[in-house]
Amino acid sequence: MTNLQSMDMLAAFRQQLQLSRVTKGEHVILLAEPGSRSDYVEAAFGAAISLGAHVMSVTVPSGIPAPTPATHTGSGPGLVSVLEDTVAQELLAKADLVLDLTREGFIHAPVQQEILQAGTRILFVCDAPDVLTRNMPRAEDKDDVLAAVDAVRSATEMTVTSRHGTDLRADLTDCHPGYQTGFADDPGRWDHWPSKMCLFWPEAPTGRIVLAPGDILLPFKEYVREEVVLEVDEGHIESIRGGADARTLETFMADCDDTWARYTSHMGWGLMKSADWFATAMYGKHEIMGMEARAFAGNFLWSTGPQPFLGRDSHAHLDIAMRDCTVALDGRTVVADGALAAREG
Ligand SMILES: [Fe+2]
Repeated sequence: MTNLQSMDMLAAFRQQLQLSRVTKGEHVILLAEPGSRSDYVEAAFGAAISLGAHVMSVTVPSGIPAPTPATHTGSGPGLVSVLEDTVAQELLAKADLVLDLTREGFIHAPVQQEILQAGTRILFVCDAPDVLTRNMPRAEDKDDVLAAVDAVRSATEMTVTSRHGTDLRADLTDCHPGYQTGFADDPGRWDHWPSKMCLFWPEAPTGRIVLAPGDILLPFKEYVREEVVLEVDEGHIESIRGGADARTLETFMADCDDTWARYTSHMGWGLMKSADWFATAMYGKHEIMGMEARAFAGNFLWSTGPQPFLGRDSHAHLDIAMRDCTVALDGRTVVADGALAAREG
């Protein structure tokens, strides 16, 4: 029987490769593992050929170095088969674009940084087909995220408040502002399709974070059901109070047995207006990474665990997406009660 599933995604991958500036004669490598979606490999293969690129499909064995579940989570420790194979690393570093179609990616793997430093562009793709097409980026999205990055770079302090009781302050000195915009166009650029967000790494946020019912805990892909109150002192989560969700977070951090599990990691806000907050409820957990929660326009996204700029190597990575927050930079509001301020849109 003819299998035409990949044809559904051919045009989307072609559009994506064009956004990622794949041109005739470039070298594109599709990196996959046995559990990767074969329709994505096929669609990307055809799309790269149609643009005149050289294309190779490379499938490596599954298996990650972390002692935790890690498919579609966002912790991105990378596959051992690449982390321990210098030939694979050299091949990827020689590509112009790597389309990372593995189930978890290499987001937090130092090896990925070395490949990027060679000038290779990497685009990570693991979400369901309609999540990709519904959130297809536009070239002008980059202007929005760069404006947000500029705003963070020129500010000295971020405050986050909410009607639920969140009241957090973070010094933005040396916070390394960055972005995701859903395509990888510049040499050495890593990005994630779909995404559109501004994120940075405050060293010592202090105050109170109150999670409200409906906020989203990732990588669990669960909605908060009962209010959770976290007291944070200089980046350390001193206490977690509340009901069942508080106990879940407390247990996770205890079970991790990880020095950095109770410390804050990146923070920022989402800019992806096409994102659907309820996508987290509508797909199987193996079908999505949860990017519509992470990049939802006007969310406040904060996280725990790894902090590369402070040398904190950790697999205990939570991303927590919150609605209804007001985010201000030196008193200038960029997100008001969970909605993007006009100039950030
Ligand atoms: Fe994260």
